[in-house]
Parts: sequence; structure tokens; C-alpha cells
Amino acid sequence: MGGVQLGLERADIAFEVNGSAVSVNVPPLRRLSLVLRDELRLTGTKVGCDAGDCGACTVLVDGAPVCACLMSAASAAGTAVTTIEGLANGRLSALQSSFLAHGAAQCGICTPALLVAATALLDKSPSPTESEVQDALGGILCRCTGYRKIIAAVMDAGRFEPSTASAAPHPSDRNLDRRMPSSGHAVGSSPVRLDGIPKVTGDEKFGGDSFPADALSVLVVRSPHYHASFVFGDLEGWAKAHPGIAGVFTAADIPGKNCFGVIGPFADQPGLAEGFARLRGEAVALVAGEREAILDLDLSDFPVRWTELPHLLQPGEAQANGAALIHQNRPANLLTKGFVERGDPEAALASAAVTVTGAIDTSYVEHAYIEPEAGYAYLDGDTLVVVACTQAPYMDREETAKVLGLAVDKVRIVPTATGGGFGSKLDVSLQPLIGLVALKTGRPAALAYTRNESMMSTTKRHPAEMKATIGADADGHITGMIFTGDFNTGAYASWGPTVANRVPVHASGPYWTPNYRAEGRAIHTHGPISGAFRGFGVPQATIMQETLYDELAGKLGMDRLDFRLKNCLRNGSETVTGQRLDSGVGIAECLESLRSHWARALADAYAFNSANANKKRGVGVASCWYGCGNTSLPNPSTIRVGISASGDIILHQGAVDIGQGSNTVITQICADALGLPLERFRLKSADTAITPDAGKTSASRQTFVTGKAAEKAGRALRERILRFANVSENASLQLDGSAIVIREGEAARRIDLASLEVDADGFVFRAEETYDPPTLPLDAKGQGKPYAVYGYGAQLAELEVDLKLGTVKLIKITAAHDVGKAINPLLVEGQIEGGIAQGIGMALMEEYIPGRTENLHDYLIPTIGDVPPIETILIEVPDPEGPFGAKGLGEHVLIPTAPAILNAIRHATGVLVTKVPATPTRIRAAIREKEART
Ligand code: FES
Ligand code: FES
Repeated sequence: MGGVQLGLERADIAFEVNGSAVSVNVPPLRRLSLVLRDELRLTGTKVGCDAGDCGACTVLVDGAPVCACLMSAASAAGTAVTTIEGLANGRLSALQSSFLAHGAAQCGICTPALLVAATALLDKSPSPTESEVQDALGGILCRCTGYRKIIAAVMDAGRFEPSTASAAPHPSDRNLDRRMPSSGHAVGSSPVRLDGIPKVTGDEKFGGDSFPADALSVLVVRSPHYHASFVFGDLEGWAKAHPGIAGVFTAADIPGKNCFGVIGPFADQPGLAEGFARLRGEAVALVAGEREAILDLDLSDFPVRWTELPHLLQPGEAQANGAALIHQNRPANLLTKGFVERGDPEAALASAAVTVTGAIDTSYVEHAYIEPEAGYAYLDGDTLVVVACTQAPYMDREETAKVLGLAVDKVRIVPTATGGGFGSKLDVSLQPLIGLVALKTGRPAALAYTRNESMMSTTKRHPAEMKATIGADADGHITGMIFTGDFNTGAYASWGPTVANRVPVHASGPYWTPNYRAEGRAIHTHGPISGAFRGFGVPQATIMQETLYDELAGKLGMDRLDFRLKNCLRNGSETVTGQRLDSGVGIAECLESLRSHWARALADAYAFNSANANKKRGVGVASCWYGCGNTSLPNPSTIRVGISASGDIILHQGAVDIGQGSNTVITQICADALGLPLERFRLKSADTAITPDAGKTSASRQTFVTGKAAEKAGRALRERILRFANVSENASLQLDGSAIVIREGEAARRIDLASLEVDADGFVFRAEETYDPPTLPLDAKGQGKPYAVYGYGAQLAELEVDLKLGTVKLIKITAAHDVGKAINPLLVEGQIEGGIAQGIGMALMEEYIPGRTENLHDYLIPTIGDVPPIETILIEVPDPEGPFGAKGLGEHVLIPTAPAILNAIRHATGVLVTKVPATPTRIRAAIREKEART
């Protein structure tokens, strides 16, 4: 029988931390990571798995890197432990400065561990080679950066001097006077990210880093079955029998509407299941209790009786078993479908000189951000405050208020730093659950998901089953395409409707396709919920289209790059939705920029293959396009900016920075629109009680949409100041302490800001502007203007396949992306490298299998040794709508990677792997099949 084991012996354990002697009284087997974080409040040491898989908890013990989650407190007795907080003690070490300068920290959750482990390496080997760095950091996962900037930062650390924490160096210029761009030159420069220093010192607070000492801990009881009915026994009696338990809460306790769901009409997921669970890991009850009681709680005697029911895991099964409906109101388990049609695709294919047909299946892909969901809630008077990691604070507020039956203005969401997002943290998860406990008990309530429950219960990339036929005329012009795709959306809707709608709009790729039909269907199963994940279904559809393009080029006897250039969209082209793109179309420039790399890579592969029999090299290319922001729906962002009486420029920037750099990029845009220097800006990051709604961080919209709002707000503030000074728009602004100096020609006017009236927000001048991209609805045939701005890209993959083993060694990725205007080139590169790493995972290794890969040991993501050198080519074809011409980028960068790799594998081996990921087993099987045929 399980129960609370409060009687576990405690012991006094003494050791040294960061040079100071400490003594803790804890159970000897308690994890060192927990002791550091809970007892000593050294939260720079992160916990991503508690199993030795992610390396986020790495500390130095007697100078050697160790996973603190695998080390007991007792084993630490008498040792000297160094954590991130002890690396530089108020200063920045050379390595920390190098990390900042190279943009090696994005979300920053992995950064403390990397810095600690790299410090140990540099102590032994001050000028390490790349492979030494890869060996030393091989056990630490990063999901954001693609590792290349981390490697560069460690190898380059010797060129930096230690500095004070407030004097971080500029990446391109070590002259401290020029570490920040001068007034009017923020856009296009790469200053150290404005939120960078806490990421390298360990001071950044993520979802689990600032739980109040008096908070109740919350444990979620989850379904162990794919599909089951359940009844509870004596919950009250069970709670009473377990000391330290404050309460058990079920759906019956939810005061509002027990329904999560980001897309109103499709909202279908209960916060706590009622009588039936439809997926493994579904939440059915909450147990709240004192921290120690919850830590040692064994749920095996929790009074719930399960009755397992038949389940459906594949879309095919779900449709064939239409009678076994997962949701009564959704016939054949169809959630929804999206559709685009143009011209007469059947006739076009019938008369095409060549056609190709294929089918591709893809797998569930796990987000695998290193920070599992975490946060706490408390009552501030009659307002519920939720402090948690998220990508969408305003949506969280609405969802939490709805579930808890509160007025929206009685819920305040304060996002913490978010340790990776990529889409899943768009969905509300623990916010209403901890809110419920706080409301019911009147005490703060805290919850950090374990890795296992994060992986079981949160959303994945949709597995897709796709088919397509594409035809071309004898000159190599695409004449028609038909695409169908079933996307396994799992038990609940999440962002399935968005995927179903986005895929048909994008499945043509950035190519002129006059006759076209595409249908994307989201099908329910009892599998994990699929939702938003970098690209919303477009990466899957692009694999289908780009692999067929290679086949078409082959049939036509054309060079694969030339074939794409011949067909790509140009200024003046119409898309498959009938949207005319008058300007800003940069795909041709991207493809052209790859031409010399393509020729060199093909020659290299040819030379290698002529001399090798068992290993063959291949080169692949693929393109992408992606519409930024919501599809044909309102998508506004609002930015507020003002000047204080002391001369600080305060930017209320509500776009959550999940590592991609919106805090810095949006400030750069605002600075140049206003005409004042970046260094005078102070950020107020997202908080629903303070910052206006800048929408969600998704769909590559923040640089474009929120950036545009920031540009408008900066210009409006400038205009207000100029009007006050009664000068023309040609005047220049300068801040001089707490005065603003306005110059026009020879005349200069100095305004003492402290003499002006201050408003409720502390501003003497202020502006607030909203931007909503101009889109038009799609009609029944999917014709219309779904997006105001598109971004484009093309990538080239070079790799080597071991024909006997089926293993793939990546040699290089060359990535050309049209970003309109690179507001911050270093951050753009970081996004590209990080997206490519995720694309590599999708292509070669990532396959989430419910019940089998619910941890980071069995679910593989790329490590530092898996990402080859990446050469980035930035293309800037300005978009007339974007701020300073900028386009979105975050999703685009992942899309071409997997198809380029699959095309390269086929170039090397002659076989296309049609089930992704292309694991060694699948590659080998395809090679064997080809050998058998020939
Ligand atoms: Fe220790 Fe992941 S938390 S290795
Ligand atoms: Fe490494 Fe986010 S920066 S996980």
C-alpha cells in the first residue's frame, strides 16, 4: 500500500557550494538538484528530466561535471560544488561574455549547464577543438539553438575578458563605447540581446524557479489508458488518511466551464476529465498538499477505478470505425478539413507531359523543450494571479477565467521566462489547474510537470498520411497538383483546425501552380493531442511536395535547382489561393544564392562517390514559404511606449520572448522609428495587468505584427514630441540625462522632462498603437488573401549514407532565407540554426510513440554532435507591409530541412524513404528492397 512517507530519515549533510560551506538537513537520498534548488534557492541549476537524459542540472563536483539529479545529497557530503551562480560572482566570466556575444543562449534554460560544463573543459583545455567541445557538452540538450553558436562561443572564449555583469560586450565590436548601436542604427545591428545577461548568470526565472515557500504542491492524477471510463472512490477519506494532503479536486470542483480549447467552436478538452479519459496522460484529478508530503506521495492507492475501453490510434482506424466516435458530434471522427481549389487539376494532370505520384507518412514529433511546464498561482485580493511559462498570456487569461468562472479582469497572467516553446505552450495547461487549487484553498499553489507527464499530456506535431500527384509540361513548367493529407489530431482539437486550414494553402510550396486542389483533414484518434508545432503542418506537406519535385526534375532530365527556379513564385505571381503578390517575393533570390554551393556540393559528392563503394554522398535541395500570422483571421498586436520624467524610454512589450529574441528585435524597431538610442529603452515584458495585448507568440508573427505595432508606436511617440516642440518631422531627438533635446537646422530646444506632468503609467510622453495585418477570408474554394506577408527560404543538405548500416552523417547545411530585413542578423542566424536542428530531428530520428518514448532517453532529439556546420545566407527582399520591410522567420527555417535531407538521401542511395523519420532501419530496408528489385 502506498502513502505518505514523512518518516524518511533526515540527516545533516555538509558540503561546499560556490566556495561557501553549507549544511542541509534532508533525507540523504534526496537529489542534489532538489537540494540546491529548494534548500539553497540556487535555481540556476535546472531540472529537465530528473533522469540523467537532458543534462540541464549539470554542476561541477570537485571540478568535474555531474548531473545533479542523479547525485544524492549524501554523496555530495564533503565535496565542493560549483553551480552557475558561482562561475563569476557578480561579474561575467570570459565564457559568459562569449555566450552573449555569439548569441549562444536563446531561451536560456540549458545555458547554465552548458556554461558549467564548458568551464570545466576550458580549465583543462583553454583552446579546445570543435570535437573536444562536442565531447564535453555531448550530454546536455539544447532544443533552441542548433548548438553551432554554443560551439563557437566555447571555442572563442579565450578572446574575451571577464567583465562586470552590466558591461556585456558587443558581438561585433569590442570597443565598449560602441557596444550598443547609435541612435537610428538599431535595425540591422546585432547588439547583445537585451534580456541576455540573466540567461548566462543563472538569474533568469523560469516557470519552476520562484515558487513561494508557503505554496501547496499540486500533483496531477492522470489516465494510464488510451481510452477508459473511471469512477472515484472515497476521495475525502483518502485525503484524510494521508498527512499533509490539503485536498483532492476533480471536475466536480470546477466552478466555470470545464473546457479548454483555443479555437472557440472546436473547444472540446476538459480541464479535468469527467467520467471518461480519451488519451494516456489525461488529467482526471488534482492532489494538493505540503511540499514534503507531495514529494514522497505514492499514488498507487488513489481511489479511482478504471474500466479500459477500445481505442483507435490511427486515422485510418478512426475513420473505418466511425461508429466508435471519439466525440459524438464529429462523424467519422473528422474534426474538420481545409480545402483549396484553383483551375482544373484533373484536366491539367491528364494533359501533362510528365506526372509523378507519391505517398509520405510522418510521425508524432515531441516538442521536447527542456523546460517542462511549471508555474504557481495565488490570490491577490479578489484577483487570481498565475505566474507560469507560456507563449500566450492573454489566451491563458481567457481560458483560466472561463474554467474558473471568473471575470477576465479578475485573472492576471504573469509569464515567467519560457524555457522553449515551439507551439505547445500556446495551449493552456496547468494555469487553470493551479488556479483552481489556489481558489479552493486560499493558498498559493505550485506545479511543475515531470518530463514524463509533460510528454504524455502536451501536444505534438501531427503525424500525417499524405498523397499527391504533380504534373509538368515538356518545358518543365508545373501544370497541376492534387494533394490530400490526413493529420492525426489525437483526442482533442487543440490547433488541429489551424493545421487543416494551413496545409492546403501551403502544400504547393512557393511555386506557381495554376491548377490545384488540396485537402487537409484533421482526424481524431485516442493518440496524444496534436497541436501547434513550428510550421502547423506545413513541414509535413512540404516533404510530400519537395520529394515529388525531385522526381519530376528527374523525369524531365532537368537539374533539380533549375527546375525549382523555373517554377518559383515571382513578383506579380498569384498563389494557389488567387492572392497576387505584387512585391516582396524572395524565393528566386534564395534559390539563386544556392547555385554556387549546389555546383560545388554536387562535384564533391561525385568525386567522393567515384572513390567509395560502401558509403555514398548525396545533395538535396528544398524550398519553403510560410504566411505570417493567423490564416484570414484578425491577429492584432498593441504596443505602448512612453518616456519617463527621468528620460528612460519604457516599452510595454507584451510579446512573450520564448528565446527567439522578440524583446530585443521589437525594441530595435521601436528605437529607430522613434529616433532615440536603444540603450535608453527599459522593457516591461508581458504581464496582462500591465502590458497591452501583443497576441500570442506563434505563426512567425511577432517580428512582423508586433514589430509593426512597435514601429507605429515609435513613430507616434516621435510625432507627439515633435508637435510639443512645434518642429517639423525633419527634427532630430536626443536624450541628455532627464532632458530631451530637439534639433532642427541650427535651432535646438531643450525640454526638461522632470518639469512635465506625469501620467498614471509614469510617462510624460506616450503613444499606444495597434496593428492588425490586412487579410481577406477564404471562400468555399479556399480563394482569398490568407496572409499579408510571406517569408521564403531554400536549404541545401549534403550528407553521407553508409549503405550497409543505413546511417546518415550530415556534412553541411546551407540555408538561404528571405527575411525581408534582418532586424538583428545574429538573432536571425540563431533562429535558422535552431530550426534546422529541429528539421534534422524530424528527418532522421524523432518519432514519438505513446507508451514507449515518454522520456528523453527513448525519444531522441539532436545532440551537439548531430548538427553539422550551417552556412546561413540572409536574403533581404523587403516586404512593403512589414516593419522596415521585415518578414517572419521562426517557422520557415524548419520547413525545408527534412525534405532537403530526404532528397539528399535519395541522391546518395537511389531510394526515397516514405515513412519519416528516415531511421537507419528504414533506409536500410529501402536499400534492400531496391537491391531485390534490381
Ligand atoms: Fe538531470 Fe535532466 S534534470 S539530466
Ligand atoms: Fe538551449 Fe533553449 S537555449 S534549450
